[in-house]
Amino acid sequence: MYQTISTTLTDEILIITINRPDKMNALNQQVMAELALAVDEVYKRKEIRSAIITGSGEKAFVAGADIAEFLTLSAEQGAELAKKGHTIFQRIEECPKPIIAAVNGFALGGGCELAMACHFRMASNNAKFGQPEVNLGLIPGYGGTQRLSLLVGKGRAMELMMTGDMISAEDALSIGLVNHVTEKEALLDKAKEILKKIHSKAPLAVARVIKCVHAALDKDVDGFATEINEFAACFATKDLQEGAEAFVQKRQARFTGE
Ligand code: COA
Repeated sequence: MYQTISTTLTDEILIITINRPDKMNALNQQVMAELALAVDEVYKRKEIRSAIITGSGEKAFVAGADIAEFLTLSAEQGAELAKKGHTIFQRIEECPKPIIAAVNGFALGGGCELAMACHFRMASNNAKFGQPEVNLGLIPGYGGTQRLSLLVGKGRAMELMMTGDMISAEDALSIGLVNHVTEKEALLDKAKEILKKIHSKAPLAVARVIKCVHAALDKDVDGFATEINEFAACFATKDLQEGAEAFVQKRQARFTGE
């Protein structure tokens, strides 16, 4: 069904692999359209509890938007491109099921932005991160100026985006851009291990955590009010009943997401 990405469902985790290794998995319009469809699957299919986004091949997660597509764009077309990208990445960010990036190589430009739209990131020790758009006379256009500032702070974001420098996985770890660094071969297993742990928790509560954390970072939203509402809504769920009962009865909770 897909031509530029591939998807595999394993242990209720949809692994979405960007699959243009000869072009460093660059995000052309077809990849973006197919990625949007795969993300729709994560929203809609009950048998999918979470997702991992990764890249195919030995070298790249995603080396950016497809630069070849930039050559003939007008400012209006540039706006359209950015809006489309924003819509897709926002849908990843707002997904009520966890979506994590397993960064297996270069995550540059739109690739770094894709990773940042995910709920959190892990990287293999050969990964490299950067926003090199200034080298092209451009700036990040898929949310990078905003998400990078939120994730690593103003000073570091400014330097990374003004110099276009690439940083190593270890440096990305030290500034909070990624949560874990693994050997290359261990990356997907570590990502799956974390997601399986999350699967054992109450799904509606996990979804509410995602919503509240985003509310904390959204200047148009009262994050504290969001937390009160989401906390209160937990009391109307079977999962809270089950979780509390299981604790009292000293047994493992069996959550149903109701
Ligand atoms: N868009 C389109 N094509 C890209 C691409 C991108 N963002 N990144 C890499 N490619 C293509 C190259 O053009 C090349 O294609 P070709 O074999 O048909 O010539 C192929 O992928 C391999 O890339 P190459 O540059 O030969 O590999 P490398 O190992 O020497 O360098 C990178 C790897 C990632 C450092 C380098 O490709 C690069 O700098 N890419 C652009 C990164 C960027 O600026 N991203 C932001 C875009 S807004």
